[in-house]
Amino acid sequence: GMGSKLVGCGSAIPSLSISNDNLSKIVETSDEWIAARTGIRNRRVLSGDETLRGLSIQAAKRALEMAQVKPEDVDLVLLCTSTPDDLFGGAAQVLTEVGCTNAFGFDITAACSGFIVGLITATRFIKGGGLQNVLVVGADALSKFVDWTDRGTCILFGDAAGAVLVQACSADEDGLLGFCVQSDGNGQKHLNAATSNDESILSNTNGVPGFPPKKATYSCIQMNGKEVFRFAVRCVPQSIEKALEEAGLPASSIDWLLLHQANQRIIDAAANRLDIPSDKVISNLANYGNTSAASIPLALDEAVRSGKVKTGDIIAASGFGAGLTWGSAIVKW
Ligand code: ACO
Repeated sequence: GMGSKLVGCGSAIPSLSISNDNLSKIVETSDEWIAARTGIRNRRVLSGDETLRGLSIQAAKRALEMAQVKPEDVDLVLLCTSTPDDLFGGAAQVLTEVGCTNAFGFDITAACSGFIVGLITATRFIKGGGLQNVLVVGADALSKFVDWTDRGTCILFGDAAGAVLVQACSADEDGLLGFCVQSDGNGQKHLNAATSNDESILSNTNGVPGFPPKKATYSCIQMNGKEVFRFAVRCVPQSIEKALEEAGLPASSIDWLLLHQANQRIIDAAANRLDIPSDKVISNLANYGNTSAASIPLALDEAVRSGKVKTGDIIAASGFGAGLTWGSAIVKW
């Protein structure tokens, strides 16, 4: 049988860094409050002519470089994002600009779980569809939908992109060992950026009542932090346990716990429930905040390039967020 494994990673961040002190001049908050409640100190935000597409391209190129795979050998590019530059998605432009001339691509929307969903999709296309190389990009620019007057949310988010290359291999080399993904639409009320149809294109509908539909606009991110916090602490450890069960591995085999970087207190609570010591927990949210679908591949890339994560290490990765959606992957680097 077929296996699939991770053979490269890369990431990219915007140039503009916004500190907690910067934010304390916009809303009533402080570095102390933000650091104590979330662990976040800085976040990167798109500025000037930077785009989500640009970050995605950079991250993808770096992952290909590490993997030593040529762009034309990529079969599929998955752009996991909730904030594409274009309503119709961004995968096609990303793959074209990276030079993946033989690839097809599409976007995956699953908020902060997007990267895990993308990873699972990649393995399915490899194991069931015979593809060789699948590029999975997790990228988000939630800054575009943040209400910068709401101190309960504007302190949390940052923009970034991360990417991995997933490659076909023999079954005994398999590096994607177990998965779990779940969704619950009842929780949408706790975290959303919903559309509303309030912009009229035609003022005079010329006799057809109710037509044409009004143009939709997205509202800013609205969140009940306490509910999202409770959901994450409850569901993430369960999800990792299910993925471990599928992999046939005990929690003690985890070398690195790599959660979606939303809040240090969520990460600590999950590590605690799984009995994973803090020196096995990957965390970089102090520098980047919550970068949604980018947070897991961004943290992975830093941990790999710094020499922390080594070949053969077992990583338990878990994403969770709007939808609600959540999911875990047990991965051998
Ligand atoms: N600075 C100062 N005070 C603040 C701030 C702030 N930035 N934000 C809220 N407060 C105040 C509140 O007004 C409240 O004051 P009150 O007691 O007078 O009413 C007090 O601090 C406590 O507020 P809570 O919201 O109860 O604070 P909490 O400890 O829950 O922390 C936080 C809030 C950090 C948002 C936390 O709930 C959290 O991280 N939740 C998870 C959010 C998350 O991860 N979301 C992303 C999911 S991923 C995705 O898909 C986008």
